[in-house]
Amino acid sequence: MSNACEQDIELRFQHRERARKSEFSSIWQDTLEAVFADVAPYYDFASNFASLGLCSRWRRRFIASVEVAPGERVLDVCAGTNGVGIELLRQQPELNVFAIDRSAAMQEVGLRRARARGFHIESVIKDVHALPFPDNSFDIVTLQWASRHLRVVDVFSEIRRVLRPGGCFYHCDMLKPKNRMVALLYGAYLKACLSSTALAFGSGTEAWSCRDYFVRAIQLFYSAAELTELLERIGFSNVTCRSAAGGIVASHRAVKP
Ligand SMILES: C[S@@+](CC[C@H](N)C(=O)[O-])C[C@H]1O[C@@H](n2cnc3c(N)ncnc32)[C@H](O)[C@@H]1O
Repeated sequence: MSNACEQDIELRFQHRERARKSEFSSIWQDTLEAVFADVAPYYDFASNFASLGLCSRWRRRFIASVEVAPGERVLDVCAGTNGVGIELLRQQPELNVFAIDRSAAMQEVGLRRARARGFHIESVIKDVHALPFPDNSFDIVTLQWASRHLRVVDVFSEIRRVLRPGGCFYHCDMLKPKNRMVALLYGAYLKACLSSTALAFGSGTEAWSCRDYFVRAIQLFYSAAELTELLERIGFSNVTCRSAAGGIVASHRAVKP
């Protein structure tokens, strides 16, 4: 790749990150915590309800792609109600799983769910833009359904720092579809879906006020191909991507060299 082309990619990412930050930072800082505190008790049920069961299906497919071995240290970033950690422990009960999330309410539900299944997950309540772990301290890092709410370049760089050389980052999220028609239909479906879910579960005012944000956050997010490029720019290697449903969802695997 030529220098000019590399600089162009760099500028594109800087520009997008600035745009995301300027449009969303007040929601990220002030509103989302209240939303997740409100939805915590019914988050898992509501996600499946809203996605007609697809969330669980995509989660199972994502977890099946994560290669784990006994004794490995795994960090689940933005762990929420520990859906990822629990599925990984089902696959390999001898993992050391750490969960980090700034929502105490989501983690409370997540720890209860883990305990009910006989699993131990080490929970840290903290913002993930600065990970409170030493360099090279995890074999695997996972992050599902949350990057749209983050300054991704900062968080992915932190993830790279805490992974040991040769360690793997597994990412899965709803992304921006490349096809405009798919994007349009998807945005409309999402908005209708969020409204009916909020109505069905009696969500609070913050969740209602965020319906437009949830759609807009995807519109301003990255496509699967862009996320591959971004991971490479941050210094990951062997980046692979598997997308589904017309690019609405994709999972990435990236190695720390
Ligand atoms: C949609 S939930 C996803 C939870 C989980 N990863 C899953 O797959 O079900 C998003 C989570 O990201 C967390 N989150 C959002 N921004 C965060 C931040 N800056 N620091 C830590 N956690 C954050 C929220 O508290 C919430 O639990």
